Amino acid sequence: MKTVIKGYPHLLHGGDYNPEQWLDCPEVLEEDVRLMKEAHVNCVSLGIFSWAKLEPAEGEYHFGWLRKIIDRLYENGIYTILATPSGAMPHWLAEQYDEVRQVGPDGLRNLPGRRHNFCPTSPLMRRKVKKIDRELSRRLGDHPGVILWHISNEYGNNRLGGACHCELCQEAFREWLQKKYGTLDALNHAWWTTFWSHTYTSWDQIHSPVPHGEIGIHGLNLDWKRFVSDQMQDFCLSEIKAVRKYSDKPVTINMMEFFRPFDYYKFAKQLDIISWDSYPQWYAGTDDRETAMRTAACHTLMRSLKKAPFLMMESTPSIVNWKDVNTQKRPGLHELASLQAVACGSDSVQYFQWRKSRGGEEKFHGAVIDHRNGSNTRVFREVAALGERLEQISDAVYPTCNKPRAAILFDWENWWAVEDIQGPRKNMAYLDTVISHFKPFWELGIEVDFINEEDPMEGYALVAAPMAYLYRKGYAEKVKKYVEEGGTYLTTFFSGVVDENDLCILDRHPLEDVLGIRTEEMDAVIPEVLPNTISFADNCWQVGQLREVSHVVEDAENPIEVLSSYEEDYYQGAPALTRKKYGKGCALYLACETEEGFLKVLYEKLAEDCRIRGEFTGRLPQGVAVSRRDGEKPVWFLQNFNRAAVQVELPFVCHVVPDGRTLEGNVTLRPYECLIVTN
Ligand code: GAL
Repeated sequence: MKTVIKGYPHLLHGGDYNPEQWLDCPEVLEEDVRLMKEAHVNCVSLGIFSWAKLEPAEGEYHFGWLRKIIDRLYENGIYTILATPSGAMPHWLAEQYDEVRQVGPDGLRNLPGRRHNFCPTSPLMRRKVKKIDRELSRRLGDHPGVILWHISNEYGNNRLGGACHCELCQEAFREWLQKKYGTLDALNHAWWTTFWSHTYTSWDQIHSPVPHGEIGIHGLNLDWKRFVSDQMQDFCLSEIKAVRKYSDKPVTINMMEFFRPFDYYKFAKQLDIISWDSYPQWYAGTDDRETAMRTAACHTLMRSLKKAPFLMMESTPSIVNWKDVNTQKRPGLHELASLQAVACGSDSVQYFQWRKSRGGEEKFHGAVIDHRNGSNTRVFREVAALGERLEQISDAVYPTCNKPRAAILFDWENWWAVEDIQGPRKNMAYLDTVISHFKPFWELGIEVDFINEEDPMEGYALVAAPMAYLYRKGYAEKVKKYVEEGGTYLTTFFSGVVDENDLCILDRHPLEDVLGIRTEEMDAVIPEVLPNTISFADNCWQVGQLREVSHVVEDAENPIEVLSSYEEDYYQGAPALTRKKYGKGCALYLACETEEGFLKVLYEKLAEDCRIRGEFTGRLPQGVAVSRRDGEKPVWFLQNFNRAAVQVELPFVCHVVPDGRTLEGNVTLRPYECLIVTN
């Protein structure tokens, strides 16, 4: 089993620490170390926004203060996750060199200020970042207290999502395209530019898609998104290479859930450890189930990127300051939300931030240490209690990891393509569709991974591929082989429609043989105006907005079963859900959106057929989730997201972690309780 940080086999507890804001208050820094120990903090992230303190003027370095703090923390058993400071530029850099500042789609270059807004192509920016990163690595990269590199901060987290439209980026984009297509003829064909007479006759005619320019060529839009992601990935790689010059410590970047602009699967390949910043919107409604489920999906994505434990690099111990309404976590929720991350595969609980800043835009963001009350707060006490609990469960949890036998296809390129469609409805809602397929697994207590079209499928008994619209090269063959060899594959309406260039696939669905379906029409309706139903598992279910009209393709050798058909409208009797045996496995096709309960019943049946039911499947009250981390001994996390107590019937005799107390039969979970057990 892989451990997250070599030689440091513990769950991490800590967070972003900004001592550079307090260098003229040594008593504050002393107090911090004392309180960190009290809060059972064992690691902090340092240097994220320290560039101006590390290099106050070009080429003038001040590392002494940072070394002193890392030393002091290390002496006290607190490790450092050391950040490269490219997340925010010092004024000397941004003022002096225009090219480092990002240009918006309107052609306007940013003024100096704010953060996460550099041009990733600028050779000057790359040189300056490389220099400071190398210095950092040379001086501190082998410090025994440093356990991990935190490369930059939340790449792309500004209104432009990392995309810069400056001339350097336009040039780099054209080069990227030349490398990809070789000739303009190939590009014109892939982008279908004869449409509206937009054939390119010179590479210079190509510009990034912007609202006042070209946005109607889907191939251009898709390639621009690929380029933006690749360019930032390459920038990240240049930072990784810079720190690697003098240090072999592992590297991570702090990601942001399903962040549309970047293909994190690709980024993951160059990272040692995945980490992300989790800021769910609790108390958004009368219950927190939806928030809990969506947060679980985000954690799951992070674990899936490497099929390994990850780190929750940031979370708030109390409130954020940037949502419309910033609600305090009610007592108990912080512990549950933190343990939810661990349940889903995180080996850490870390915060933004340790101490509230005195000024600046985040002065009212939650922190472990308050402005006036210091550690004498409910928040501090809850953080300290959680820190103690993490220490107590560490041995049982570390090293283990969730090992799903089901997977859901979530593919960034598909996301970009689907959401650009001018088709059956304005918002095709790919991510929401994927989440709607994740939800039943979460509710049923069945572990699931996300995979993309390039990931292997072997090892999963069931793969669900909702709205898999864009088929990359080789995807159809992979699915075919997977089903032939015994896998169960479910896909839906709007799948296998375009190739990797977003060009419609002519002739037939690339998986027509496997699915046994030929689609003729795609309908999008207002369901209240044109209601429809399907029957399945002794129930009648409402059909949703998107509905495909398909025909069965007869296959004498492998007959197709129609499990459910439309009951109304001119397509009454047309197949809505089919199953076809193919090789040793089978393929299912769901032709329409449906009400939520249908997917739960469908996946429960499939889980039964594929023998992947979880121990708690069918026993979980609403709002109670279970996750299983496997290792020498599996550990289950039973999480009650309800604001009230609930009863759960245990499927076996359980031993509570860490005290070994035995539980069996019915147990009561308190509001927000997370019960951790082994068998
Ligand atoms: C994150 C960011 C942190 C801090 C935090 C506030 O997105 O990485 O630096 O701003 O949000 O919630």
